[in-house]
Amino acid sequence: MKLPFAEPFKIKMVENLKRTTKEEREKYIKDSYYNLFNLKSELVFIDLLTDSGTGAMSDIQWSELMKGDESYAGSRSYYQLKEAIKDILGFEYFLPTHQGRAAENVLFSVLIKKGDIIPGNSHFDTTKGHIEFRGGKAVDCTIDEGFDPTLNYPFKGNVDLNKLERVFKENPIEKIPFVIVTITNNTGGGQPVSLENIKQVSALCKKYGVRLFIDGARFAENAYFIKEREEAYKNKTIREIVKELFSYVDGMTMSSKKDGMVNMGGFIAMRDPELFREASVFNIMFEGFVTYGGMNGRDMAALARGLYESTEYDYLEYRVKQVEYLGKKLKEYGVPILEPVGGHAVFIDAKRFFPHIPQSEYPAQLLGVELYIEGGVRGVEIGTILADRDPETGKERFPKLELLRLAIPRRVYTNNHMDYVAVAAANVFEKRNDIKRGFKIIYEAPIMRHFTVKLKRL
Ligand code: F0G
Repeated sequence: MKLPFAEPFKIKMVENLKRTTKEEREKYIKDSYYNLFNLKSELVFIDLLTDSGTGAMSDIQWSELMKGDESYAGSRSYYQLKEAIKDILGFEYFLPTHQGRAAENVLFSVLIKKGDIIPGNSHFDTTKGHIEFRGGKAVDCTIDEGFDPTLNYPFKGNVDLNKLERVFKENPIEKIPFVIVTITNNTGGGQPVSLENIKQVSALCKKYGVRLFIDGARFAENAYFIKEREEAYKNKTIREIVKELFSYVDGMTMSSKKDGMVNMGGFIAMRDPELFREASVFNIMFEGFVTYGGMNGRDMAALARGLYESTEYDYLEYRVKQVEYLGKKLKEYGVPILEPVGGHAVFIDAKRFFPHIPQSEYPAQLLGVELYIEGGVRGVEIGTILADRDPETGKERFPKLELLRLAIPRRVYTNNHMDYVAVAAANVFEKRNDIKRGFKIIYEAPIMRHFTVKLKRL
């Protein structure tokens, strides 16, 4: 017999979970104004809100914490991280930040002026937030295939070169400070971008003299998909793929809470010493001195190790296969999901789950609430609430995709947990027609409203 797949690690420490009843959960979520961000984590049984900062570090990473150097300037841990970034990603310069959005804040402070246009592939919400906050405009150039939740296409995160070139041609080029490509494309369903696509985007950017940056939060998962799905790279190692990918771009922003395998942290990496000097000024102002920038020495040491662990093939195979496993189970129960399954999360398609509930009643949020009540499982809405209002018209934006994301923390849950999640979702699906109405908003913030929104059942 062929040996079955098993996790390439064993468990050294456990964290106990508390169980609650359905009746209790109904009360907890009502008291939280049906906003899953308002729930205390101990009232959640399986927490798939995010894969960001929620992973388990390895024994070696924990031992790195003990070796961290907390010197204000010139910390040994900073140089350890600098080495790892050079070795794995190939960038000469880097600035640590306290997380990914802080990296965006620093880099965009240098590069974006009011009225600028920043094309990309479905910018993540904090990326879009930081662009719009500066009076810029994020233009989504994702390929059309990326918006069809049932289409099985290997690289749904790809940038449409025609759409991108149209943006270059139709606008004064000096209004386009850079292009940002997010790998994997989180907002679009954790979908990968092919190396061929990166190469072509890079060539197009060079032709027009526009800089190209990568939002690399899940760069290692993206590299795994390149190895599995892109013929030309099937015999390359993950690290070779990663190195080649970043060789085509000017720099990156990173949320180390994902493929950095740490609980907090981020960085900007780049090739241009002048950009590094300019960004250093903002880093010192917003984050901290250039050799710590909002990170503890020990956390930089754990991150340096994390970059090596996340680019190991065995780890990535386990990681992506667990996400696939949940997707497969959900499909078996008839629950409509976005396909193919992404690298860090399974996205349930709320438009097909609740076809009788209009987007103006937030069907993906409704699904999230019902799944919590059913099984104590917490996902996150990637739909109309997250899309915010149009900053110019004040009108709600109804995105093409209305999804509930079940993001899986790295090295945290077993496949028994995945089985439990799938049954909870199947139970909600069984009674979907008894659920007749969604929500209305009773409070919302002017930007990134999803974190603090308050809802009322209709
Ligand atoms: N870029 C991407 C693609 C992200 O997914 C995130 C965060 C960020 C940037 C910002 O990084 O949180 O460290 O400031 N995504 C989390 C998520 C929050 O749940 O997907 P951050």
